Amino acid sequence: MARVVSDPLASALVDIVGEAHVLVDADVRATYETDWLGKYHGTARCVVRPGTTLEVAAVVRACSQHGAAIVTQGGNTGLVGGSVPRGGEVVLTTSRLRRLDPVDAMAHQVTVGAGVTIEALQHQARLAHLDFAVDWGARATATVGGAVNTNAGGSRVVRFGTMRSQVMGLEMVLADGSVVSDLGGLPKETAGPRLSNLVVGSEGTLAVVTAARLRLVPWYRHTAAALVGCATLADAVALLPALRSLPSLDAVELLMPEALAVACAHLGITPPLAVGTAAAFVMIDCAAHHDPTDELAAVVADLAGVMALGPQRELLFRIRDHVTIAIGAIGTPLKLDVAVPVQRLPELDALVTSIAAELGARSIVFGHLAEGNVHINLLGVGTSDADVTERILAAVIDMGGTISAEHGIGVAKTAWLERLKGAPTIAALRAVKTALDPQGILNPGVLLPPT
Ligand code: MLT
Ligand code: ZN
Repeated sequence: MARVVSDPLASALVDIVGEAHVLVDADVRATYETDWLGKYHGTARCVVRPGTTLEVAAVVRACSQHGAAIVTQGGNTGLVGGSVPRGGEVVLTTSRLRRLDPVDAMAHQVTVGAGVTIEALQHQARLAHLDFAVDWGARATATVGGAVNTNAGGSRVVRFGTMRSQVMGLEMVLADGSVVSDLGGLPKETAGPRLSNLVVGSEGTLAVVTAARLRLVPWYRHTAAALVGCATLADAVALLPALRSLPSLDAVELLMPEALAVACAHLGITPPLAVGTAAAFVMIDCAAHHDPTDELAAVVADLAGVMALGPQRELLFRIRDHVTIAIGAIGTPLKLDVAVPVQRLPELDALVTSIAAELGARSIVFGHLAEGNVHINLLGVGTSDADVTERILAAVIDMGGTISAEHGIGVAKTAWLERLKGAPTIAALRAVKTALDPQGILNPGVLLPPT
């Protein structure tokens, strides 16, 4: 028997996507209302699961007619509260937008739906002996749409750049329900600015991304990794020029001792290098069409560390991929995703260490060394959350860094965006937002600071 849907908007959405794909009951909405680490949550008016671009367009049009705000959600692995409701929005999940076209072998590109996971995309690329360049621990759940919206980075940015560098074009639904399709994949075109470029990193505030045309990269089957321990973080940074000279360099990840310890404890394994033996650990990954072991070994020969091939390399990656999960299992941290010019990393780390000591908090720092991008996780800051965030972000801005390197602004960092970008940039971004979304229905409260 058909359910009675009392909300007129929900009932209009049922007409578009069918009753099975409009979730109104609190228990079925719940997983869409709380983020991955359980830090951000709110109540949704309903959750809608469109299965095609045309359904997305009709859903957006219906929401616009009802003046209802929309929060677009991908895999819900975000860390800044950008894809969960704040209160009363319609959650539009892209989970059914699973278009997975065959790889275009001529162009080394593929077109995929926003709801395709990064792992499924990688799998699709590898069927054609190619690969997708952006990769990080949440690959099994995180989606293409989420990665586009946050301009995701991950571990291979040193070689291939961020999501922005992979996007050849997008298909998207604008706030009035019109569909813009830019999936032609032409590498050369000088026909004015591209809306797709603007939408990458816009966190669901300018359009609902429904599909993406993505660049693919070679699939390197020969790999070699190393974990090296450095006496200081400055020594770790000093490795970069030599590492960058490696043609096969694929990732340079940083694990401060506490990060290595929590991940190994969570997995119930002994750390490959004893945690107390170094002040900073660097995980280096090389990948090529030939065996890169000798190339990597030559650079790390004089360093204290372990070379990791085959299963040992898998283990290193397992450790790296589990840091966030391990921290989440201990508690809900104050989490900052910042980047500074690499040479300033020791200064930033010293500040974080002193703040943690002052508060008796536990600091777990890890990230992507080559981009100067560290994930600062502080457990036990008590009521000092806002104060600590202010001190660290202010210092990062002073150092010429950024308040978000790859997680986005979400609702967590809107207050600092103007200090980072300056008033003229915010005014320009606001003008773009107002032009594309005059009613302000697309992810309100996210990215731009409140007026
Ligand atoms: C990572 O590099 O593992 C992710 O950005 C997740 C995190 O910062 O916790
Ligand atoms: Zn990261």
